[in-house]
Order: sequence, then C-alpha cells, then structure tokens
Amino acid sequence: MIPPVIHPILVHFPIVLLIGCSAAALAYLHWQPRPELRILTWWLLPPGWLFLLLTVITGIIDQGNLPPDAPYRTLLNLHTTSGLILCLLYGDLLYRSWLHRSRQRAAATQKATIPGRLPTTGDFLDQPGRKWPLTAQLLLGIALVIWSGWLGGELVYVWGVNVMG
Ligand code: HEM
Repeated sequence: MIPPVIHPILVHFPIVLLIGCSAAALAYLHWQPRPELRILTWWLLPPGWLFLLLTVITGIIDQGNLPPDAPYRTLLNLHTTSGLILCLLYGDLLYRSWLHRSRQRAAATQKATIPGRLPTTGDFLDQPGRKWPLTAQLLLGIALVIWSGWLGGELVYVWGVNVMG
C-alpha cells in the first residue's frame, strides 16, 4: 500500500509546467510572436501532460480508500472531474500539435500525397483561424489548473483528507 504522499509531491509539476506552457502560448498569440515563446510552449507541454497523467493516477489511488458518503465527497468529485478534463484539454493540444508537425515533416519529404491538400507550413500556433479557439482552450486550461489545485488544497487543509495524525 503506497502512503498518500506521492500525489501531493507531484501536483506542483503539472501546475507549473501547464500554466507556463499556456502563458507562453498566450504571450506568443497576443503579445509578440517570438520564437522563444513558441519553443517554451512546445517544450513545457509534453512533460506537463505526462506529470498531469501521473498526478491523476496517484490521485485516483489516494482517493480509493476514502468513504463514499464523506461530507467532502462533492468537493472530491469536482477535484477528480477537473483533473480528468485537464487530461483531455491538454491531451488534445498535444495530439493536434504533434499531428501538425507530422504533416509538416511528410510535406517536407514529399510524402504528402493527399490530393487537393495544401502542405502545412508554419507553426501550429500560426495557423489561420486558430488564434481565438486556442486562446479559449488555453485560458480554460489555466483556470482549471488553478481551480483543481484549489480544490485539492481545500480537501487537505480544510477537511484533513488523508492527513496522517
Ligand atoms: C483524477 C484526478 C485527481 C484525484 C482523484 C485527486 C485526488 C486527491 C486527493 C484524494 C487529495 C488529498 C491528498 C491525498 O490523498 O493525496 C488531493 C490533494 C490535492 N490535489 Fe488532487 N487529485 C486529482 C488531480 C489533481 C490535479 C490534476 C491537481 C493539480 C492541478 C491536483 C492537485 C491537488 C492538490 C494541490 C492537493 C493538495 C495537496 C497538499 O497540499 O497536500 N489534483 N487530490
């Protein structure tokens, strides 16, 4: 049986990495399209998502022994749901940006044989029509990370969930 200490250790990583990734992408889209911001976005996203996954797995393990009718259940369910939505939200960004790079590589090596399809050029962040949907996705991501972290803090510091005394 793993003591419930791994989740509280891991939580810091997705919080910092995903907020950093989103802030860099938003700054690129709305402030200055500097290459450093683009690099920061795509370097922070994969470790951020990986740590998010580990955080969610350890969180699910930690909540396994908690009573189903505990008074903090609603809070815990919201915390769990926000964590799962975050996996989808940043997983979607990771997948679509990877797909974009794969298409670019294929186009560059003349392997793109889909008729009528223009070769993909430029960064994923630079694609036309993507600015505002991405802005909404990134802002939602930041808000959910903060909310999920706050809910986790409430569980531990208000309700004493899994605090060993
Ligand atoms: C399915 C997803 C998740 C579940 C089931 C879950 C479950 C839990 C549980 C049971 C606790 C109480 C302490 C413990 O037993 O470890 C906790 C604390 C916490 N969780 Fe989560 N969690 C999930 C995802 C997340 C995510 C994605 C974040 C960060 C964005 C997060 C941030 C926190 C924080 C900050 C605490 C308080 C830690 C402390 O200061 O001791 N959790 N979570």
